[in-house]
Amino acid sequence: MKNLIVANWKMHKTRAEAKDFAEKLKKSLANTPLTEKEVVIIPPFTAIETVATVFADTKNISVGAQNIYPAQNGAFTGEISSVMLADIGVNFILAGHSERRQICKESDEFINEKVLFALKEKFRVILCIGESKEERDANKISEVLFRQLEKGLVGVEESDLLALVLAYEPVWAIGTGAVASEKEIKETHEIIRKKIVAIFGEKGHTVQILYGGSVKADNCSSLLAVANVNGVLVGGASLDADSFRDIILA
Ligand code: PGA
Repeated sequence: MKNLIVANWKMHKTRAEAKDFAEKLKKSLANTPLTEKEVVIIPPFTAIETVATVFADTKNISVGAQNIYPAQNGAFTGEISSVMLADIGVNFILAGHSERRQICKESDEFINEKVLFALKEKFRVILCIGESKEERDANKISEVLFRQLEKGLVGVEESDLLALVLAYEPVWAIGTGAVASEKEIKETHEIIRKKIVAIFGEKGHTVQILYGGSVKADNCSSLLAVANVNGVLVGGASLDADSFRDIILA
């Protein structure tokens, strides 16, 4: 299984900044064919096309979108559709990020609609799950993750699994510098793997499970060495081209 290295830029970078980043990264990877890794950059909507254009001829680097509305078009003011995202070269859709769950109040049910719709529209989907500090302290990690998985994946078929990626992002580790310990990550990824196999059978072993939350160049290789960690989802440290290159090459 290839490791998937994902940059989530959140609400950062203008088109000029995105172009700068993409050209710098492309140049610094020019002599390093990515055979064991696949890279996805998820800019804000306005910079997706800029980044896609720079990497149009680069193998194993593609772009994603941070959100999608589950309809092809229509009266949904302020939303973005599958047709529009496909039109600018998007391959991956992020769903269920904790910032959308918490700040935008997205429910498991709405996230599930997005997951199903994005899969139907032939995108690859990265479904994020993760517990808050309070839920962790109350020993509710499995309960929370199982609910997010069961509700988020209603209607997903075994045949969709090749297009599905999961990202475990403990909310308390996002943007805080507080990475979960390798032991915690190993235990939690194992729980997630077992749950996916329980839902989908043996094919659940093929689903990539990423870790996210304060991933940096200096902790990335030890995180990737943990069992059932098949890639990383990187926020802050993906905003600088050199730092993200070091993560890709870790
Ligand atoms: P972080 O963000 O790497 O800045 O912690 C990760 C994420 O939110 O996906």
